[in-house]
Amino acid sequence: MSEHLTIKLNNGVEMPMAGIGTFLLAPDEAEASCLSALACGYRLIDTANAYVNERAVGRAMRKSGLNRGEIFLETKLWPSFYEQPDAVEKTLARLDTDYIDLLLIHQPAGNYIAGYRQMEAAYKEGKVRSIGLSNFSKDQVREILSICQVKPAVLQTEVHPYYQEKALKELLSSKGMVIQAWYPLGHGDTALINEPLFGRLAEKYGRTNAQIILRWHVQAGNIVIPGSKNPAHIRDNFALFDFELTPEEMAEIAAMDKGVRYYTSTPEMLKRYAELVPPVEEQK
Ligand SMILES: NC(=O)c1ccc[n+]([C@@H]2O[C@H](COP(=O)([O-])OP(=O)(O)OC[C@H]3O[C@@H](n4cnc5c(N)ncnc54)[C@H](OP(=O)(O)O)[C@@H]3O)[C@@H](O)[C@H]2O)c1
Repeated sequence: MSEHLTIKLNNGVEMPMAGIGTFLLAPDEAEASCLSALACGYRLIDTANAYVNERAVGRAMRKSGLNRGEIFLETKLWPSFYEQPDAVEKTLARLDTDYIDLLLIHQPAGNYIAGYRQMEAAYKEGKVRSIGLSNFSKDQVREILSICQVKPAVLQTEVHPYYQEKALKELLSSKGMVIQAWYPLGHGDTALINEPLFGRLAEKYGRTNAQIILRWHVQAGNIVIPGSKNPAHIRDNFALFDFELTPEEMAEIAAMDKGVRYYTSTPEMLKRYAELVPPVEEQK
């Protein structure tokens, strides 16, 4: 079932279908989680300027003993940096690496076109192997497609069984883009994880409910980056590639879509994001 292990992006770059997320992890936690994930076989790490743990992610990559080329490193530019011409250089310095595998515009806030142009320049200079978007609506994706010189490869956005983004996925697929799910486990919502359907499938396959949800994601084409501080969860969340849900089971999970998100941004929040400067230089 190795066909689900990686996906080829629209510029030929191979991206792992499952990785580790680091949202809300303090530097020590992020370093420990990434090290634990890399030891379990993960090769994709997702961080962001705004998580204020990029230095810790860089340390974990080095301590893992893996070659840089074996790891797919993803990070996101924060809106208040979109108009700072050295934002990518500073991000590289914090990560202690000379390239990023996938760089995203974190939010459609502030001058996001300037942010996109900055990513395109970094792509052309070989500092970034692929670029993408996060939290963009269908219309905002279309806007970027209408002005871009380098096509975005990925859209990272909220996706889980209660919020499946089927129409957005159709648009992305028609434009040669792929979706990456944040909150793949509903941010740990036990109401979602303990849904009886997942319990039934977990028993059938000898897996955990979380593994059933994550397997559904990768089988549905959603790249996943579950966050965890728990080494047992980290191990389980990557053991997804040696079993397969049937088409009927995939359809049962597809029918759970309620169109309900855990997080909704407002114009006021986006305005605040554009003004907020995360303390990136003070991180450990
Ligand atoms: N682009 C954006 O705006 C954006 C927004 C949010 C998140 N993200 C990215 O997406 C990643 C994932 O989101 P998230 O971490 O907030 O939510 P998530 O992955 O849906 O859920 C994480 C929560 O689930 C728990 N969990 C993890 N594995 C589990 C398992 N096997 N069984 C039971 N519980 C489990 C974790 O607790 P334990 O620590 O106890 O395992 C944690 O509380 C983030 O880390 C970040 O990289 C991006």
